[in-house]
This record gives sequence, C-alpha cells and structure tokens, in this order.
Amino acid sequence: MQAVGVIGAGQMGAGIAQVSAAAGYRVLLSDVDQARAEAGKAGIAKRLARDVEKCKIDAEARDRVLERIEPIGDVAGMAACGLVIEAATEREEIKRAIFAKVGAVLGHQAVLASNTSSIPITRLAQASPDAARFIGVHFFNPVPVMGLIEVIRGLATSDATVATVETYAAALGKRVVHANDAPGFIVNRVLMPMLNEACFALGEGVASIRDIDAAVQLGLNHPMGPLTLADFIGLDTCLEITRVLFEGTGDPKFRPAPLLVKYVEAGWYGRKTGRGFYDYSGAEPVPTR
Ligand code: 3HC
Repeated sequence: MQAVGVIGAGQMGAGIAQVSAAAGYRVLLSDVDQARAEAGKAGIAKRLARDVEKCKIDAEARDRVLERIEPIGDVAGMAACGLVIEAATEREEIKRAIFAKVGAVLGHQAVLASNTSSIPITRLAQASPDAARFIGVHFFNPVPVMGLIEVIRGLATSDATVATVETYAAALGKRVVHANDAPGFIVNRVLMPMLNEACFALGEGVASIRDIDAAVQLGLNHPMGPLTLADFIGLDTCLEITRVLFEGTGDPKFRPAPLLVKYVEAGWYGRKTGRGFYDYSGAEPVPTR
C-alpha cells in the first residue's frame, strides 16, 4: 500500500490524516512548517485519547494510528506518495502554489486531489502537472464522524484517477457520491441556501436564534440547527461558498443574506473566533441576538 500525503494539518487535513492512518495507510502530513504539522498530529493524538477513554478503540490501536502519521514541514517529502490530498486554506493562489511544488516531485502514477469546497476542479487542475490525474475529494467536518466523500471530476480527470480515489474511500469505509464540477457540487449546493435562508429569517425578525435552530433541529431531525451549523462551519466559509453559488450560477436565489455579510465583516466567524450567532466564551454557547 503506497503512502498518502495530506497537505494542511488544520481541522480538515488532520481529520483526513487520522482516517487514512486508521485505514492502514502510511501518512505524510505537511503544513507550512514542521511545527504546524506536529501540532496537527498532536490534535489527532488528543482526539484518539478521548476515543480510548470512551473504549471506542484500545491503546494499541491508537498507537498504531499515530505511528503511521509522519509530520513533515515540506511537501517535497511526498515524492513516494501514490495519493496526495490538499486540504490547505481555501484560497486559489495558495492551492496553485502547492500543486506546482508537490507536482514537481510526484511520480507519474500519483494522483493529486483537492478537498476544496468551492473552487472549480477543472480550473485548479491547470496548476497541476497532469490534469488527468487531478480530482476533487470533498470530505465533511468532523471527518472521522461523517460518512461521505464527494468525488468531483474535472473535465480532463481520467477513469483511472476516479478508480484510485474510489479504492481509497472504500478503505476508509466512506460512501462516495459523484458530482459534476458545478458550483457547490452537491452538498454545499443544497446546504448553503438553507443556512443562508436561516440568516435571512433571523435578519427579517421571523424568529430568534434559539427558535430558528430548535425549529430545524427538532422539526426536521437535523443534528444541529442551521445557525449552530453555520457557526460550526465558519461564517466566512459559508459566505464564500454562497458567493461562489451566486456568481457561478448568476441566479439571484443564491444572493448572500445581508446579516451573514455583516457578521463576517464584523469578524464574527463562529466557533473559530469565539463569536458568531452564538458567543462561545462561556461554558455553554449563548445567542448573540
Ligand atoms: N472528531 C472526531 N469525533 C468527533 C468530533 C470530532 N471533531 N466531534 C464529535 N465527534 C464524535 C464524538 O466523539 C461522538 O462519538 P460517539 O457517539 O461514538 O461517542 C459523536 O461524534 C457525537 O458527538 P457528541 O456527542 O460530542 O455531540 P453530538 O451528538 O452533538 O454530535 C456532531 C456532534 C457529530 C458534530 C453532530 O452535531 C453533527 O453531525 N452535526 C452536523 C455536522 C455537519 O453537518 N457537518 C457537515 C458540515 S458541511 C462540510 O463539512 C462541508 C464544507 O465544505 C462546508
């Protein structure tokens, strides 16, 4: 089994590294420097320790997963990987620079994949050495819990490349859905209008934050209400994807809710900044309106 490279040791990248190692792959986990890559692995160790406490895995299994993950400070170390998954910051110029760098060292069979949630795969493929071996693999947060991978073919992606990621997803025990390279793919095309609509409803005074969340959580049996979920994903990310839907389709039904724009302009991005629709500074989240 060839090694898997994961670029970006943040929440998504670390999650992808964890599930890949749990499936038996050797994983090279990189970030902008060695320290950030090490921090990503430390986060994985923390989560696995909780799983041991809950008796979901034993200490030996935890150690085996951790042994398989090697943090590295430079993608040049990924030359021997059969599959490299980029989960870096959602900025096109950053991703393009990464593809150029890692593409220069990869073997002629290796597949390069992006976990982008919104940038067109066909366009990103232009920054890779071979568009036929470039593909989108979209994971969901939290990666160890969510059972789905969206696989997105670019215009030039080969059948062999699709087969490589299907084999990988099967080893992870995740269900694959195939999406065309259209704005938002499947999940975000369906999810973001719901989250955006919740922001419109709040802004128009339809109901309070707590009641909008309770209505959807209990009335539709969703694990989280839409405003809690938007905070969980990050309001900046939600706005960015909504803009991609709006601009990519030209359809006014996707226009971002003014309140969502305002929260992002205020720097209230949700859980990651400690404040979004809820304030996370105390023991329990408290609605901000
Ligand atoms: N890593 C690993 N495991 C985690 C975790 C994490 N970050 N967070 C929670 N879990 C596990 C817990 O250990 C627990 O496992 P157990 O039942 O075996 O003990 C289980 O998930 C449930 O966790 P909790 O009891 O702490 O809390 P909840 O029951 O409230 O579940 C949740 C938390 C799984 C996050 C659930 O609320 C949920 O599914 N929410 C919706 C998440 C969602 O929609 N994600 C997709 C976002 S969209 C996206 O990612 C795409 C992007 O492009 C925007």
